[in-house]
Amino acid sequence: MNGTRAKWKGAVIGQSVIGGGSAMPEVCVTVGDPLAEERDAVVIAVAEGETRWKGTAAKADQHLRGQLRTLQSWGEVKGKLGEVTIVHTLGLLPPRRLVLVGIGNRSKADAETLRRAIGSATKSLQNIGVKNFAISVDSFSVPSVPMKEVAVALTEGVLLANYRFRRTSSLSESPPLERVDLIVANRRQASELERGASLGTILATATNLARDLVNAPANEMTPIALAEQAKVVAERRGLTYAVYDEHWIEKVGMGALRAVSLGSDQPPRFIVLRYEGKKGAPTIGLVGKGITFDSGGLCLKTAEGMLEMKGDMAGAAAVIAAMDAIAQLQPPINVLACIPATENMPSGRAFKPGDILRTYSGKTVEVINTDAEGRLILADALVYAKEQGAAPLLDAATLTGAAIIALGPVCTGAFGNDEALVEEVIAVGKQAGEPIWKMPMFDEYRELLRSDFADIKNTGGRPGGAITAAWFIREFVGDTPWVHLDIAPTFWSDKDSGYFVKGATGVMVRTFVRFVLRRSGWEGA
Ligand code: BES
Ligand code: MN
Ligand code: ZN
Repeated sequence: MNGTRAKWKGAVIGQSVIGGGSAMPEVCVTVGDPLAEERDAVVIAVAEGETRWKGTAAKADQHLRGQLRTLQSWGEVKGKLGEVTIVHTLGLLPPRRLVLVGIGNRSKADAETLRRAIGSATKSLQNIGVKNFAISVDSFSVPSVPMKEVAVALTEGVLLANYRFRRTSSLSESPPLERVDLIVANRRQASELERGASLGTILATATNLARDLVNAPANEMTPIALAEQAKVVAERRGLTYAVYDEHWIEKVGMGALRAVSLGSDQPPRFIVLRYEGKKGAPTIGLVGKGITFDSGGLCLKTAEGMLEMKGDMAGAAAVIAAMDAIAQLQPPINVLACIPATENMPSGRAFKPGDILRTYSGKTVEVINTDAEGRLILADALVYAKEQGAAPLLDAATLTGAAIIALGPVCTGAFGNDEALVEEVIAVGKQAGEPIWKMPMFDEYRELLRSDFADIKNTGGRPGGAITAAWFIREFVGDTPWVHLDIAPTFWSDKDSGYFVKGATGVMVRTFVRFVLRRSGWEGA
């Protein structure tokens, strides 16, 4: 057993899968000349339509006797976003390779452009087994992005692109990347860059933690295992935590969470993490859907429909990972994280269509479809968070296939009962590099959930499915300012591209953390 485990990439400590992805390189800030020292590679950004090169690119070209410009004139180096050209220096410069990476039109580039470009370069270097490289930070400077955010974006791009999730039995892959230097010429920019690299490292590490939790298959990541991971994070970072079992869930009257859990042999858990950064300051509530496997229950999904359902706890993963980052950054504010965790399975004990449930709020729900389980467990968790005095409330959930149909794989859907809060979350998402789009919540959609026998029914039919799901939750949060983020469109990437790696994306970790920082008045947020 131990022998097999030792071969897995990253340490598997007991039940822990933290670090089950790839080991992370260190990102350092250095003042100097990127071309002066021997290393595996130096990455230099080139923009589309720039015929006169400056700084490191110009200097490198000189040492290579104009050969880089020759490549450009041949159309080999266009500067298109994500284009990567690796040139060997063959002893003409101390670094063994120069990597020219396109950032497109420099005046249109934003932080996300830089993240994607350096992500592509990182993957090319990883493919050829490079252990360390430097980045010419000056070549990545673009008009619209302050230096600190350039460092955040470059650090995130490297660390997110470098992520791998494997459960293979052999280690035949190339050696891991160990160190990346962000090199800047101007000494006075160093401290700002260092702050950016450190924030970027914390945000990307947390995002990769969320990816690990989501990528871990459902046979490992049961509700108990998820609670164990939350506990590992809490103990490592000094957070207060509580994990409640199935008896507590039944006793306190979380009838919706309990109903969903009934069909499974894996007992449910209700996980609570608390960050206390300032006495008397507001408490922000973060709630994440923690379905560790969604079979659909008695309203069983198809085989194809189940394939990604180990990831139906991506909202929970985002919340746990965000708490990991928040506890390191120590903003002067409080955060309460609540995670209802259970499987949704069919069995002789499973809840059934037609069942009427009594939720934690006291409201009753008529079950129309057992596959609409996410909103049920969120209802109990949000009411608990509200009862604990948290406001505003933000939830993340892989809630509806309808959101995927509406939005495609590009952005997360935002719903809420407070216009200004929705706009704030969208703005924070933009800054974090996580696109979010506002969805409508006209009152007419609420009518679709009217039940003949209970206070509300759990589905409103296929039309507007993402919106009726949001309305269901809204019915439970009442007047407390709340935003629901449907991450079904964005929790999973079907391909490697930029800094995205096939599999879990770790989406909403960076938005949650930045939201908390901003609300706390944290410097520069
Ligand atoms: N977890 C699913 C939603 C989902 C689907 C997330 C695909 C990610 C990828 C959710 O529990 C679900 O099954 N929703 C149903 C609701 C329906 C029965 C009203 C759906 O979207 O089909
Ligand atoms: Mn479902
Ligand atoms: Zn689900």
